[in-house]
Amino acid sequence: MHYVVIGNPIAHSKSPQIHAAFAAQFGLNDFSYERLLAPLDGFVATARALFDGGAGGANVTVPFKEAAFAFADVLSERATAAGAVNTLIRHENGRIEGDNTDGAGLMADLRRYGGLTEKRVLLIGAGGAARGALLPLLAERPAMLVIANRTAERAERLLEEIVAPWLRATGLPVAAQPAYGAARFDFLVGGVPVELKSSVVRPVLLGRESVQFDVIINATSASLGGDRIPMHRDVFASGALAYDMMYGRDETPFLAQAREAGAAQCVDGLGMLVGQAAEAFALWTGHRPDVEPVLAQLRAAL
Ligand code: ATR
Repeated sequence: MHYVVIGNPIAHSKSPQIHAAFAAQFGLNDFSYERLLAPLDGFVATARALFDGGAGGANVTVPFKEAAFAFADVLSERATAAGAVNTLIRHENGRIEGDNTDGAGLMADLRRYGGLTEKRVLLIGAGGAARGALLPLLAERPAMLVIANRTAERAERLLEEIVAPWLRATGLPVAAQPAYGAARFDFLVGGVPVELKSSVVRPVLLGRESVQFDVIINATSASLGGDRIPMHRDVFASGALAYDMMYGRDETPFLAQAREAGAAQCVDGLGMLVGQAAEAFALWTGHRPDVEPVLAQLRAAL
């Protein structure tokens, strides 16, 4: 069966290497995977031709995740929550399902470093990457989640659109309180902080009490421009994990900040990349690959 990754640009994509390694783990000789460049205004035509040609599925990357969301015949719950699709699956009846494995890939990688359960979690960013991470993150049952973003209103919108419905669906009362000031954090903490403890949801007053975090996730694109995030060093609790969804050969600006602030573990997003690919591969083939050797191979080649 044939699969592709669609993007623009696409030449840099590591996905073919990752999926070839997964297929080799199971001896899948009829599995092929290629890069596919789509014109910026031509995602639908490209995807349509691909599936008319019999492809089994596709990964979708920048800038087409929203276009893929609109293109899919049916959407998974997590794609709906993310508002974006990174994996297309052709079912036997010909219908194309849109899914999003980014959040699951992130959670799988975070579990390798102790996970989020009962942890105080700070998610920085409120764009597409943060949105995709939210539901999978909540499903891990953190002790607390605070969303921080440069633009507070965007963080509040995520809380209203995704966190509040999730809390209602799980039967927990929703904490609703006007946004508080950014007294403790130089960086704006937008929206209502939500604390999930036993079955009681309470607002957390950071203004009075210094709440440190066990896991701090950077979902912003700040480091693309080499920018640091205005962030107080005492956000990092002792033993804290700093996780950057970005990765590169050099340490990212966020991880440099975290290391300087004394974060115990600093991890970049290469494992998330392999993790989201593993989820997609499992959806397509029914085989769940071992990410460790593939991750080691990619890391060595960075
Ligand atoms: P993505 O799909 O990568 O998440 P996006 O939807 O454009 O991209 O979101 C980018 C995120 O990075 C946003 O949270 C953005 O903050 P704003 O909502 O305030 O724009 C954040 N971001 C980008 N550059 C930043 C910077 N230099 N400092 C802090 N946050 C930044």
